[in-house]
Amino acid sequence: MSKAKLIIDVKNAISDVDPRLYGSFVEHLGRAVYGGVYQPGHPSADEDGFRRDVLELVRELDVPVIRYPGGNFVSGYNWEDGVGPKSERPVRLDLAWASKESNQVGLSEFQDWLDKAGSEMMYAINLGTRGVDEARNIIEYANHPGGTYLSDLRKKHGRDKPYNIKLWCLGNEMDGPWQIGAKTATEYGRLAVECAKVMKMFDPGIELVACGSSFLGMPTFGEWEREVLEHTYEQIEYLSLHSYFNNIKNDTASFLTKNIDMDDFIKTVAGICDEVKARKGSKKDVMLSFDEWNVWYHSQENDKNAPRWSDDPPGLIEDIYNFEDALLVGGFLITLLKNADRVKIACLAQLVNVIAPIMTDPAGGAWKQTIFYPFMHASKYGRGTAIKAEILCPKIDCAERDGVDSIDSVAVWNGEQKETTLFILNRSLELDVDTEIVVSGAKELKEHIQFAGFELKAENSLGNEKVCPASVNCGIMNGESIEIKIPKASWNVLRFR
Ligand code: AHR
Repeated sequence: MSKAKLIIDVKNAISDVDPRLYGSFVEHLGRAVYGGVYQPGHPSADEDGFRRDVLELVRELDVPVIRYPGGNFVSGYNWEDGVGPKSERPVRLDLAWASKESNQVGLSEFQDWLDKAGSEMMYAINLGTRGVDEARNIIEYANHPGGTYLSDLRKKHGRDKPYNIKLWCLGNEMDGPWQIGAKTATEYGRLAVECAKVMKMFDPGIELVACGSSFLGMPTFGEWEREVLEHTYEQIEYLSLHSYFNNIKNDTASFLTKNIDMDDFIKTVAGICDEVKARKGSKKDVMLSFDEWNVWYHSQENDKNAPRWSDDPPGLIEDIYNFEDALLVGGFLITLLKNADRVKIACLAQLVNVIAPIMTDPAGGAWKQTIFYPFMHASKYGRGTAIKAEILCPKIDCAERDGVDSIDSVAVWNGEQKETTLFILNRSLELDVDTEIVVSGAKELKEHIQFAGFELKAENSLGNEKVCPASVNCGIMNGESIEIKIPKASWNVLRFR
């Protein structure tokens, strides 16, 4: 048995956790919207055509903010196609995903769905095929109370009150050659700042996210951030980061260290923001929006044979997640919390059917993927103040890295609940670790939820959701400390009173 010690002391507070760290993303892509959140005629559909079974699971995840309507989709999207009488809405080609877009769900329907889900809109505008005109028009349509052409059009469309969308993304992945209307950093930076300008002329109180690099490995990474910030720094609040990770090499030991890449990415982008701040002599800090993150690779082979322009929504990027994916997702959540002083928004990409924690059967029910659980735990118990965990633990080596901590961990103090929750990942595939945990001020371990003991590739499916966590025996504290076995390859949530 290996030994470790974790010390949690409130004096090591990192930052308050912005609840939007537990955001997600719904794109018009595959079966995310049509056949996912919206499926009139399905036995669980409500009066608006939204699947109640999906809504129930979304509420269980308690997602404060949802990015919409894309993704790559948004760079060819005309928002006007998705408002007004449904029978008059055009069917369009969605070039990003070789699909047909019926436009039966648009701004109004999605807002209705968000209201039912208890989430807020994070709306991405189209800076692929469009620009400043889109920016000024959609904000007038969505947020102006009335008495102008576009705000009255909204009223005519049945929405008397403005949507009051507060959080806006200035395009999506504009550095990516795959993006419709992709741009150089200078082109994008100029366009983004002009859009930001008109949007803030309308309402200086809104918050804007500019596009950072699509992923750490982009050849323009770093230079892109610097140039975009050079133009937009004073007009934006957040710079975006996106990352998807895979275990294509089937090297799980290395896979479970991938959240260290996420951490490097965050630290590097934060450094670039600060460098631009210094050069500009600015007084403000630009924060980070990690608005696409997840594991993504299981569906790649399937997607090569996806039908093009089909009338029914095609099942695209429907990764079926396994136990090791859930462990890494736990690791990502730990990393996001460790960086809560800088990352204020993060979106698990995505929410339903498309690389998602929630899956639906077209004729049957909705079900939970393995990654549902760590996300739900963090969203439920990870609100408050993030606290650094001091960790002494065995080191492990893997093909991609040497000397990595076997134990990764962070705590969150929730003052309202008078509770400290400790999230622990044991990424070692071999070592059960006997861990002494010391939590300042703790009186009792109320609950220990553990996700452990499954075969690494074990998956869930409709009607078979056996790969899930369980509450285990808590043990008695000795003062402020307790000894706990943290099994190899496990995700743990310890709730202290
Ligand atoms: O989430 C799927 C896609 O991944 C998004 O559309 C795009 O922004 C990213 O490349």
